[in-house]
Amino acid sequence: MNTTPEQRFPDDFLWGAATAAHQVEGNNVNSDWWARENSATTDLAERSGDAADSYHRYREDIALLASTGLRMYRFSLEWARIEPEDGEFSRAELAHYRRMIDACREFGLEPMVTLHHFTHPRWFARRGGWRNPEAPALFARYVEHCLPILQDVTWICTINEPNMLSMTRGEFGTEMAAANLPAPDPDITQLIIQGHRRACEVVSALPHARAGWSIATQAFHAMPGCEEEAAAYGYPREDIFLEASKGDDWIGVQAYLRTFIGKNGAEPVRDDVERTLTGWEYFPPALEIGVRHAWELSEHVPVFVTENGIATDDDTRRIDYTHDALAGLHAAMSDGITVYGYTHWSALDNYEWGSYAPTFGLISWDKETFRRTIKPSALWLGEVARTGRLFHPAR
Ligand code: GCO
Repeated sequence: MNTTPEQRFPDDFLWGAATAAHQVEGNNVNSDWWARENSATTDLAERSGDAADSYHRYREDIALLASTGLRMYRFSLEWARIEPEDGEFSRAELAHYRRMIDACREFGLEPMVTLHHFTHPRWFARRGGWRNPEAPALFARYVEHCLPILQDVTWICTINEPNMLSMTRGEFGTEMAAANLPAPDPDITQLIIQGHRRACEVVSALPHARAGWSIATQAFHAMPGCEEEAAAYGYPREDIFLEASKGDDWIGVQAYLRTFIGKNGAEPVRDDVERTLTGWEYFPPALEIGVRHAWELSEHVPVFVTENGIATDDDTRRIDYTHDALAGLHAAMSDGITVYGYTHWSALDNYEWGSYAPTFGLISWDKETFRRTIKPSALWLGEVARTGRLFHPAR
């Protein structure tokens, strides 16, 4: 029997699920990631290929999410489609993304639109990616061209995980290993922060926009006696971005794991802990830690949990993980932290940057037919969304 006191979320709390274009659409052939996946010397296990074919099946995906009770869909616009060549913009692709926004409205989902989620047009990468001092202006020009389809959109996420982008140089894609991420390049960090500021300025012309960006938080945890090392490790990888969010309309928190920092940087995941399909430690408190940290360092910018989830083929474990993460989120909110909403990662099983093996989705799909199947975790999260009450179906 459940003896914990009732954990209620506010009535206007936005519950949803998230995807990113390259991970679900399929055939994003003009992006730097596609080039990397398909190069003769690729370091990646799998190509994205057709992905979930959500480029064509987005209506079905949106309808399925709405049918569970969720009320928001966070998805990204694909820069490589919208601006296929330097300065050439595709009206047809903009119209495609407008249809996605319309479909969200039709099925009763509030859209959150991410303008940049890891991938770049090939021409942008050829021009040096985020190393190019012109990168912020090039990004702002693309955002300006998106404005006509965003007129009625409220929730705008400028850049997804700028800190991961900076650590991985943002040029040829990313290494998703949690441990020992390379140090961010300070010049790239500054250019990405400028890109965010420029994009915020551009979207401030929209009548309803509330703009923020989404930071990967990693619950850095000092090993005994390594407090200084942990601070030095975490600052350029996370804190500098949280501090740069001061004054934004909201700050996106993405949380999955914790990372122990020893004398020599990040420690490998211990052998005696449960691991998820990404090899990360199963650690639901990551969300509460990330939210509290973001709130503090941004000097109380309202939080939006833009990603949280688990790669597992055991859907009951997805419910366990998410339930416990949400309990932590509720505790943070009870202490006065403003949190606007939660979009679970991910709506669909998807291309996890090199492999389809780590399945994060609330919805699975058949590799041959693309037929979708709603997992029990989606129905459970939808019920939490509908009732505003956190419960665990089996505890
Ligand atoms: C990321 C991304 C997602 C990932 C997810 C799981 O932050 O890395 O936003 O694209 O798929 O975080 O690793």
